[in-house]
Amino acid sequence: MKNYLIKNATIVNYDKEEVGDVLVKDGVITKIGKNLFEPRVEVIDALGLYLLPGGIDAHTHMQMSFGGTYSSDNYYDGSVAALAGGITSYIDYAIQKGDDSILETLDKRLKLVEEQKPLTDVYFHVAITRLDEKILDEFKDLPAHGVHSLKCFMVYKREGMQIAPDDIAKIMVEAKKYGIMVNIHAEDVDQIDANIDKFVEEGKLDCKYHYLSRDEEVEYAGDKIVIDLIKKTGAPAYIVHLANEKGVKLAREAKKEGLPLLVETCPQYLAFTSEVYFDPMKGLDFVCSPPIKNKASQDELWKAIIDGTIDTVATDHCPFYHEEKLWGKDDFRKIPNGCGGIQYLYIYMLSEAIKRNIPFSRIVSLISYKPAQIFKLKGKGEIKVGNDADLVLFSKEGEHVITKEEDKSKADTNIYEGLTLKGKIVRVFKK
Ligand code: URP
Ligand code: ZN
Ligand code: ZN
Repeated sequence: MKNYLIKNATIVNYDKEEVGDVLVKDGVITKIGKNLFEPRVEVIDALGLYLLPGGIDAHTHMQMSFGGTYSSDNYYDGSVAALAGGITSYIDYAIQKGDDSILETLDKRLKLVEEQKPLTDVYFHVAITRLDEKILDEFKDLPAHGVHSLKCFMVYKREGMQIAPDDIAKIMVEAKKYGIMVNIHAEDVDQIDANIDKFVEEGKLDCKYHYLSRDEEVEYAGDKIVIDLIKKTGAPAYIVHLANEKGVKLAREAKKEGLPLLVETCPQYLAFTSEVYFDPMKGLDFVCSPPIKNKASQDELWKAIIDGTIDTVATDHCPFYHEEKLWGKDDFRKIPNGCGGIQYLYIYMLSEAIKRNIPFSRIVSLISYKPAQIFKLKGKGEIKVGNDADLVLFSKEGEHVITKEEDKSKADTNIYEGLTLKGKIVRVFKK
């Protein structure tokens, strides 16, 4: 492993920015200081550049079976796109199928990782889709296997993936005993299914009805269920991909009350509004669950990014080919749900930080420090002695327009195409 000394960088951590030098030996940060000297190592002059801890995308779906196909990136493909955007680790969802136990679910995914040899670190949350006593009994063994988080989908009842609120409560209580976080996809499934049936009966089938069947109120109803579950159990929960205004306000209040709630949002909810669904063809590529919400939600999410209500920003990277999205052009139920974006997570948020005058330390907290803390990723999330040398050298200068050609994800859909980003990655270092 190469040894190197990065000189005169503005070193950005979640809590401060400081100009200094960083010495890396064998992939580990061994010294941080001023005027460091080390013989026989590559010296990188980083004057005027920012040195950030490698990004962590805490929410991905590589090679996920969904909507009659698989998301287009495998663990290797996803890692190539990730590294191009300064993401040096990602946490994927291993989703329980059939009779598989939690550890069997994990093992199947670890085998894929072993075969596909991603260039980044890959970790897992395990999504429980069926609960019984044997599953609950497995929880005690999970931390030793590197699993510190589980997921419950409140939704996808018709797809056989839903966990009902009473079972989520049981999972939260048991998980708390072992320091395991429970991640929740929060939308009210009964409202969704009733809305879908109504729209189908009325022949309303283009992609905007995907959004209208799971609108702001539907997601807010799901968020309220999570808050009730936290109050009832006293156990923590992490809402994934929060996208609606009232849900953000509810989360802000819950945190003020001291409830153990953590909140994630995604760049697609920050960059776009529900207007995207009103173009029936282009809108297909933006179909994800929860769908992108109205302007008031977008504004409230940005407020929450700044005031700290949001803990993490992750992508929910789940790309599909446009040809697959077209399966649902005349019936929104047949559109595979999900969008890509792992390549753009860090650079989109850093670009917005430049445009909106948000300190880089806040972005580092959202995309590196907090995911590492919440999901217990040792050696990640901070530029400090002893940590892995997963580092990103970033310049505030310059801008570029995103094109599909530059996108390393396998899918031919890129919802970020045409957006102008400020700043650029100069170099990514991976342990
Ligand atoms: O549309 C999405 N988000 N697809 C992936 C599955 C999920 O709900 O996170
Ligand atoms: Zn989800
Ligand atoms: Zn997801």
